[in-house]
Amino acid sequence: MPSKYLITSALPYINGVKHIGNLIGSMLPADVYARYLRQEGSDVLFICGTDEHGAPAELAAKEADEPVDVYCKKMFQVQRQCYEDFCISFDYFGRTSSPSNHKLTSEIFENLYERGFIEEKYISQYYSPVDGRFLPDRYVEGTCPHCGYEKARGDQCDGCGRLLDPEELIRPYSVLSKSYDITLEQTQHYFLNLPKLEGQVTEWVNTQDGWSDIVRGVAQKWIKDGLQARCITRDLSWGIELPVKYQKQGARKVFYVWFDAPNGYISITQDWATSVGDPLKWKEWWQPESFKDVHCVQFMAKDNLPFHTVFWPAMLIGAGMSIKMPDDIKGMSWLTYEKGKFSTSQKRGVFLDEALKFFPADYWRYYLLANCPESSDSDFTFESFAATVNKDLIGVLGNFVNRTFTVFRKSFNSTVPHLDGDDLELQNRCESVLREISDLLAARKFRQATQKLRALWVIGNEYITEKTPWVADLPSSGPTIARCLHLIRVFATASAPFVPQTAQRIADLLNVPWRGICKTPIADCFAVSKLVPGATLAHDTDTVLFKKIEDDVVASLTQRYSGKDSNSSEYEI
Ligand code: MF3
Ligand code: ZN
Repeated sequence: MPSKYLITSALPYINGVKHIGNLIGSMLPADVYARYLRQEGSDVLFICGTDEHGAPAELAAKEADEPVDVYCKKMFQVQRQCYEDFCISFDYFGRTSSPSNHKLTSEIFENLYERGFIEEKYISQYYSPVDGRFLPDRYVEGTCPHCGYEKARGDQCDGCGRLLDPEELIRPYSVLSKSYDITLEQTQHYFLNLPKLEGQVTEWVNTQDGWSDIVRGVAQKWIKDGLQARCITRDLSWGIELPVKYQKQGARKVFYVWFDAPNGYISITQDWATSVGDPLKWKEWWQPESFKDVHCVQFMAKDNLPFHTVFWPAMLIGAGMSIKMPDDIKGMSWLTYEKGKFSTSQKRGVFLDEALKFFPADYWRYYLLANCPESSDSDFTFESFAATVNKDLIGVLGNFVNRTFTVFRKSFNSTVPHLDGDDLELQNRCESVLREISDLLAARKFRQATQKLRALWVIGNEYITEKTPWVADLPSSGPTIARCLHLIRVFATASAPFVPQTAQRIADLLNVPWRGICKTPIADCFAVSKLVPGATLAHDTDTVLFKKIEDDVVASLTQRYSGKDSNSSEYEI
């Protein structure tokens, strides 16, 4: 029986196309891992979707001058397309706004309530008669009491960076109507009683043996700093409404976005199950007969760790619904952009829809994986991007494929030559690197795995250089070329999780079925069948896999994406 792997990538916020930092921050490593495991023959379910609620979604829709549901639907489609274009192989890409998540989130809340983990509290909040609603923190602006900045937000001042409460603002006004006629009033909210769950959560955290020290450290710090009851309701119109019986004062409250988003992993799996015509199939993943049957691995950027290691587990434990919890959590560090920060509003950085206008997905995938911000942050520059593509993809992989095919076409008329037995030294060298790649992927060490992939490609170039099959009338040329063609097939198999489009192109060049490659485990791909001697391959297809990135292109792209104001302190993700 193949083992079952449930893989999730943090659900990206709906408000705008994501940048390459977000891609390497969770979806891309998750994708490589999912592809690797599928090749191993494991049963994989890879889930993601858009995180659609909260004030930022409402504000982005307002800015786009669209009703929020229309805006979200459109951005969901745009985002889904971006990930598809980057070959992210989700089994299902859903939405947290779906009916299934409304139902599940309400159910989790009611269970928590009945089991005594929800408290009701009255807090004071600004009410705006002109807008006819309470104003969440982000909807109030005013003058900062500390630095005098006039457009300080209710939660934070962009002038001095201090965290604020809306009550502290001088001359506060509503962001929606710009009205100063707003007053503090008492309003009822629900809180998740985290202190009451602390014992159980701590025990769960301490018994997770698959976590890295960083991940465990974040969880333990959150717990040690003292878990406080957390408000899980908001006065927003867009979100998951509380069940009617819990709505007070005739107000319309919705759940806090972090209370509904993680449940999205489960509800999106439910939507997947429905889409494959087997609505209860989600239980095989989240409520399996034995939790040990499923291995759940969650990928995310490090700022999401507290919510996945403490907050969501506390919700699930408290709700007592017997839901599978993550076995492993991979928290990625930051990718910086030209030594600074990515910023959506400053147009600083490369965004996914733009990126593919200049280079194919595999160039980005390879570069990002080779510089994966795993144990520490890493920095993107167009200069290093071009250097990596030119040196590794073109100089090593592309070069080897091209050298082999040139001789193969010229001297062998594209007919696969006969082998004369195995070259054991070559085989041993390759197999040891293949095992390393496989082990590193299993351990989710993507940066090192990519280095080893490059080392594998290097073996091909060294081999062909040593054997000089282009020298006329060399009797060994036939077997050498047969071996090089076999190496190319091995490279396609090992490269498939990293650069799937390129691997597929190589498979086509060799006339090898792509589906076969996708089912061949990396560690043992050398021993898998060789090309049939005597078979003739297409003679006219282009064997140049990559195009060199020239210096002037680097200069113009660096300039183009440097942002309006590179001294900005703003950080948006
Ligand atoms: N939307 C969040 C972000 O982009 C991640 C949400 S993950 C989930 O940082 F747990 F809520 F799903
Ligand atoms: Zn300030």
